[in-house]
Amino acid sequence: MSRIFVFGATGGIGRRLCLRLVASGHRVSGLHRAPEQAEALREAGVVPVAGDLMALGVPEMTRLLQNHDIAVFSAGAAGSGADRTRTIDGEGPAKLAEAAQAAGVGRVYLVSAFPEAGRGREPKEGFELYMRTKKEADAALAASPLDWVILRPGTLLHEEGGGRVALGPALTYGSVARGNVARVLAGLIDRPGIRRRVLELTDGATPVIEALAALDP
Ligand SMILES: NC(=O)c1ccc[n+]([C@@H]2O[C@H](COP(=O)([O-])OP(=O)(O)OC[C@H]3O[C@@H](n4cnc5c(N)ncnc54)[C@H](OP(=O)(O)O)[C@@H]3O)[C@@H](O)[C@H]2O)c1
Repeated sequence: MSRIFVFGATGGIGRRLCLRLVASGHRVSGLHRAPEQAEALREAGVVPVAGDLMALGVPEMTRLLQNHDIAVFSAGAAGSGADRTRTIDGEGPAKLAEAAQAAGVGRVYLVSAFPEAGRGREPKEGFELYMRTKKEADAALAASPLDWVILRPGTLLHEEGGGRVALGPALTYGSVARGNVARVLAGLIDRPGIRRRVLELTDGATPVIEALAALDP
């Protein structure tokens, strides 16, 4: 059993991930903004923790992370503006890297973005900022001494997925069901030997358990 803190616990990936982690016997805390989200988290077996990533600094984050072993960051501004992208998608993981070290959280899992996303489309300022910011966040976490995994999913689909994926250091671009992202994150958390890796993820042909076993050192 690990004590896991999920940033983005109310999101498409985070909600599915929390359910999996709780079902596996982990103790899970989940960040939420709206007060009415607390009850749904509690019903899912998650300890609700109120907080807004637009306002949380490293000291506050360090306090939230006390008594946890693992943190997952799957929060995102979802295109709600440049300031929010910079603060949530960019500074969020960088602050988490610092706070995790201060709080004694040894492992951090970051949901990032596939570098080929948006290729072939007319460049848009907001999207370019998003991609640049995601990469800066990856770099901040990767420079830390933590045991991190950076997961770069393709375009996310509002689906559970059937548990078959492509997972590895370099893939051709594709889409991936949010349910499959949650399956892979839960599997990674249960395989601490997979550490300090950047992994790309799309839907594919390989059962998640086999895709993870292939990465186990
Ligand atoms: N869309 C894509 O195709 C795509 C592709 C690759 C990677 N990604 C990345 O995948 C990750 C998650 O995807 P998803 O589908 O789970 O996203 P989602 O459903 O939009 O969920 C985003 C989560 O972030 C939380 N959040 C937003 N602003 C916050 C704030 N100020 N303080 C605290 N929490 C905040 C949301 O909380 P609320 O419930 O309060 O809104 C929600 O829990 C993101 O990092 C995104 O960049 C997306």
